Amino acid sequence: MPAKSKTVYLCSQCGFESPKWYGKCPSCGEWNTLIEEFRAPERAAPAAGRSPSGRAAQRIGSISPQGEKRFQTGLKELDRVLGGGIVHGALMLIGGDPGIGKSTLLLQICQYLGRDLKILYVSGEESERQIKLRADRLRVDSDNLYVLCETDMETVLEHFRADAPDLVIVDSIQTMNLAGVASSSGSVTQVRECTNAIMREAKSADIPVFIVGHVNKDGAIAGPKVMEHIVDCVLYFEGDRNTSYRILRCVKNRYGSTNEIGVFEMRDRGLYEVENASKMLLDGRPTNVSGTCVACVMEGTRPLLAEVQGLVSPTGFGNPRRMATGFDYNRLSLLLAVLEKRGGYFFSNLDAYVNVVGGLRLDEPAADLPVALSLISSLKDRAVGDEVIAFGEVGLAGEIRSVTNAESRIGEAVRLGFSRILLPYHNLRSLPKRGDAELIGVKTLRDAYEALG
Ligand code: TYD
Ligand code: MG
Repeated sequence: MPAKSKTVYLCSQCGFESPKWYGKCPSCGEWNTLIEEFRAPERAAPAAGRSPSGRAAQRIGSISPQGEKRFQTGLKELDRVLGGGIVHGALMLIGGDPGIGKSTLLLQICQYLGRDLKILYVSGEESERQIKLRADRLRVDSDNLYVLCETDMETVLEHFRADAPDLVIVDSIQTMNLAGVASSSGSVTQVRECTNAIMREAKSADIPVFIVGHVNKDGAIAGPKVMEHIVDCVLYFEGDRNTSYRILRCVKNRYGSTNEIGVFEMRDRGLYEVENASKMLLDGRPTNVSGTCVACVMEGTRPLLAEVQGLVSPTGFGNPRRMATGFDYNRLSLLLAVLEKRGGYFFSNLDAYVNVVGGLRLDEPAADLPVALSLISSLKDRAVGDEVIAFGEVGLAGEIRSVTNAESRIGEAVRLGFSRILLPYHNLRSLPKRGDAELIGVKTLRDAYEALG
């Protein structure tokens, strides 16, 4: 009897599958994310007990690490985020808000890569003419760049085989459509199946592929999480659309570290690398005002300085408001509780706001101390001092705990002209003395505030 296609409900957040609809996904807990889709009948599973066929298992010592040679993209910031360049056969996903610069970035690297590689740029979003106009603006005119405006996945895959490119760019996966799949493009199943199809083709031909993925309103790549499992690298392009700075962040990388970020500036002729990112993040810092403190966080192997601003003001309504931009909300609540209980700084009838300037997100514990200092500084209405920088983790007992990479953080701070550095006491003990900056080791939050003088 031929199997019938069946209706399933798929969560667009996590890929959870269910035969019936729920208002709230039982797997990830998101509301209103289950979408109805049709599933084609599956092929019969292979009979159990058959002997393994195809490839034989290999001893690890006999596998050659071939393919480690990487292609440089011409943008050092991008190479670093990728872990040193593009790996053969790697599937790389770039996500980001519309208009952030994903297409610009990918088109731009074609000029440099096109010197030795044949590139196929598949676009389901723009026409050839639009791409040409953009390429002119970016001064991309490589003879090795081929543009294909197509949304049918099968046709695209045929070009993979027929044109034998060395690199493929698929802009965006949400516009691709696989004819055998009975749901519209952009749906969970389409996105997943198209990614799978690209992966099979890319791996068998050993060509690297960049896939552009749109993000949904929560900032995650639209389509199920399974798409992130399929690809080798997941990069997010972030940044405030109102400012020209863009940060490329790696959240998954099978060929390198995931902590690296790349900083770019969008100008009228495309994206430019920002080499001195700390300087950029501190540009326009107000001097001698209360409620601001400079933090030093590690982004991968690189120390970055960023300005943290805190503001406290009397609560207008019953419950005090807490708001954090670029900093974890729960961490802010925790810091406020520690400040109150262990430091004797009272915020319970005050609204508290924290903002990290420049669109950076501070996820590292070392950002605790500067956030706490900016809040105390705003509370007491006393400036922290323009020459001061702070880093350290705040423990629940109000103690300042040591952090990693103290030396490179200090180096970066000194390079940018900071002369007083507040750091955990336990870090200070293992550091050599410096003539160019005053290092102040602090044990508690109170110590830190009092050390400001
Ligand atoms: P785009 O790469 O089209 O974004 P995405 O593919 O992520 O949706 O970025 C377009 C934005 O970038 C648009 O708002 C204009 C701006 N832009 C510049 O400022 N300079 C340039 O040289 C280019 C090509 C775009
Ligand atoms: Mg685009």
